Amino acid sequence: MVIFVEEMNPMTSNQYLTTTSYTLLEKGTVSCQSPSNIALVKYWGKYGEQLPKNASISFTLSNCHTKTTLSYERKTSEGFDFEVFLNDHKEDSFKPKIQKFFERIEAYLPFLKEYKFNINTTNSFPHSSGIASSASGMSALAMCLIALENRLLGAPESISEAKKQKASFLARLGSGSACRSIDGPLVVWGEHQNIEGSSNLLGTRYPYNVHPNFHEYQDTILLVDKGEKQVSSTVGHNLMHEHPFAEQRFQQANNHLSKLIPVLKEGDLSAFVQIVEREALSLHAMMLTSNPYFILMKPNTLEIINRIWEFRKETGSSVCFTLDAGANVHVLFPKEEREEVSQFIRTELTSFCSKGEFIEDEVGIGAFLL
Ligand code: DP6
Repeated sequence: MVIFVEEMNPMTSNQYLTTTSYTLLEKGTVSCQSPSNIALVKYWGKYGEQLPKNASISFTLSNCHTKTTLSYERKTSEGFDFEVFLNDHKEDSFKPKIQKFFERIEAYLPFLKEYKFNINTTNSFPHSSGIASSASGMSALAMCLIALENRLLGAPESISEAKKQKASFLARLGSGSACRSIDGPLVVWGEHQNIEGSSNLLGTRYPYNVHPNFHEYQDTILLVDKGEKQVSSTVGHNLMHEHPFAEQRFQQANNHLSKLIPVLKEGDLSAFVQIVEREALSLHAMMLTSNPYFILMKPNTLEIINRIWEFRKETGSSVCFTLDAGANVHVLFPKEEREEVSQFIRTELTSFCSKGEFIEDEVGIGAFLL
């Protein structure tokens, strides 16, 4: 059977609508792996349909990833039909977010209601680690759906650059930061006047020179608090609407991104450290000054930050920290310093981690088919 896509909504991003016809296959599976990412300049505040209030940039990670297998089977019933499994166990708590995702992307993948889906995911990191799984999870699902679309279009299995862009565009509609996980090692999301090709609709690979100091950058994630966050990112983003410092914050983030361009080019590690740490603390300052206000850092988050500052002062190291919307600390450092910093982490920082746990990661290349 063939379905034609006629509807062209001028309000949507037309280039991602499919204009050719699909040949609907009976059933099958596709599998993808997609990593998490860590923002250097943070996305915090959005408008419209998942559009960022400021541009952000992140390192794509490697070891922290989600593997998703999407099984599809033709159905005749109406509406979306899917089940979600995490480590082979049904996970109904993920369903509302995926339902919303399907509703948002249906215009771009009009075959979605033709199939019953089983979405099987596993994370390389513990589910209750407080690590954002929405970026890796949503980007992995978006890649699977693009792989399926390729099949239905009779296109080659491999994901072209154009299809990666569509995957990023779709992933954004599942979770904003997920659009930065499809590609790597450095991805920008959000229109920025100094970054060619940057877009609010999808993540794009950072297009300028990056000094070898930043190649294979290391990120050790210290698991300070593995519980559920008290305030979700979605709620936090919404609190930026009435926030007294919102406009200054969006301006600051865009300025930080401008400043990062020469820093990345010249390999200026000390300027990098200043920008990255200021970004992390500004993000949390927004939380501290929201209405209602909230605090996601824990006492051990601050302990770790202070130890990093002391270590840097004593040794001249370029190690620095960043935070996402939680208590865990991402410890960033150049590969050159791996030995010294790993030693420092093991001897001085792991005692502040829940059960002494941490994850060693480094920059990676993004999502791929399995
Ligand atoms: C603090 O992408 O999780 O990690 O779009 O509502 O799903 P939604 O939010 P999400 O926000 C992530 C915010 C952040 C900063 C960042 O990754 O840029």
